[in-house]
Amino acid sequence: MNWNGVHVLVTGGASFIGSTLVDALVERGAKVRIVDNLSSGKLENIEGHVRDRGVEFLEEDLLDDNVAEKSVRNIEIAFHLAADHGGRGYVDLHQAACAGNLALDGIFFRACRHAGVDKVVYASSGCVYPNFLQTQPDEILYLSEDKVGPPYDADNMYGWAKLMAEMTLRSYYSDFGMKSVSCRYFTVYGERGHENHAVIAMIARAFIKQDPYIVWGNGQQIRNWTYVQDIVSGTIRAAEVIDDATAVNLGTMERTRVLDAVRDVMDYTGHHATVELHPEMPTGPMNRVADNTLACKRLGWEPKMNFRDGLHRTIDWYFRTKKREEVAAVLNRMLTERDSVASGSLEGVASAD
Ligand SMILES: NC(=O)c1ccc[n+]([C@@H]2O[C@H](COP(=O)([O-])OP(=O)(O)OC[C@H]3O[C@@H](n4cnc5c(N)ncnc54)[C@H](O)[C@@H]3O)[C@@H](O)[C@H]2O)c1
Repeated sequence: MNWNGVHVLVTGGASFIGSTLVDALVERGAKVRIVDNLSSGKLENIEGHVRDRGVEFLEEDLLDDNVAEKSVRNIEIAFHLAADHGGRGYVDLHQAACAGNLALDGIFFRACRHAGVDKVVYASSGCVYPNFLQTQPDEILYLSEDKVGPPYDADNMYGWAKLMAEMTLRSYYSDFGMKSVSCRYFTVYGERGHENHAVIAMIARAFIKQDPYIVWGNGQQIRNWTYVQDIVSGTIRAAEVIDDATAVNLGTMERTRVLDAVRDVMDYTGHHATVELHPEMPTGPMNRVADNTLACKRLGWEPKMNFRDGLHRTIDWYFRTKKREEVAAVLNRMLTERDSVASGSLEGVASAD
């Protein structure tokens, strides 16, 4: 598909994944508008595009009156990534906040329909998969899309809201013909990531030379951490190919145990400390790995980055861009909260108004 001149909206476009998606869409020549209230997104992730590449930025809250309507005006494809979301420490400990996504998504999809947006591309999550399937770390389990079904058992209010949004989009397609696709992201990591997600937390602990080095849970949890550029390429491909509200997994099939990732972080950073397990802290499911067969078949997509190389890149970025004293001062709070260091105001740049 030729993206040149296509009018796209990225909600939550100042976020880790959102801003990386904006980079890719700008690169392809799309006319990009961002709406973000900067509750966890960062201005520094997008300000270059806003200043130099004609990207429109609405610093607004999609839950406020008329903001969703204003955001989708004249938009052809809407990538909906705005969410009250964070890593394990956040979603386990902030259920009511995550329940706000039910309203956010509902308001946004209704606005898209009324405005005649051609297609909605939704950032869903591996958290829609039933918890009861994911309890045995030794089982070689790959979550294929058909495993989401009765009896539903999503992961926290966060996962239930993602599931409800997918279902809403399916209803909008069958009842109104509104095109959409839901992309189920699995534990994304990479540059611009946040400490409330496991990989960045592991790196941050090494960065501040934490000793003993704390690991939440028993360290046996299995994940398929997926590099952000792969998530972005899959999301764009899904936007190009799928119309019928299908949900598709975007995740690698590489299985990594938390303690093995910790060891790699220690080896690469040279910070060899005593590991201290904290089983009382939020750990999430014991075994969560995607089956990406559907994405391979329908999108012709597969992840390009293996975990080890992506991890080393992410470590390089973190060590290059962060200040040790600042991280040490805020790390404990960042593990369970989603706000980031305050960004400056963006005066004098284009807005969609
Ligand atoms: N990071 C992951 O591992 C992961 C995994 C699965 C799904 N996702 C989904 O991907 C999307 C992006 O996540 P992320 O990790 O890049 O970071 P994130 O959670 O920081 O992104 C959310 C963005 O939405 C903005 N936002 C929140 N509420 C808003 C509102 N009411 N109005 C306007 N903007 C609002 C935030 O400021 C932020 O920029 C989210 O929808 C998230 O649920 C992420």
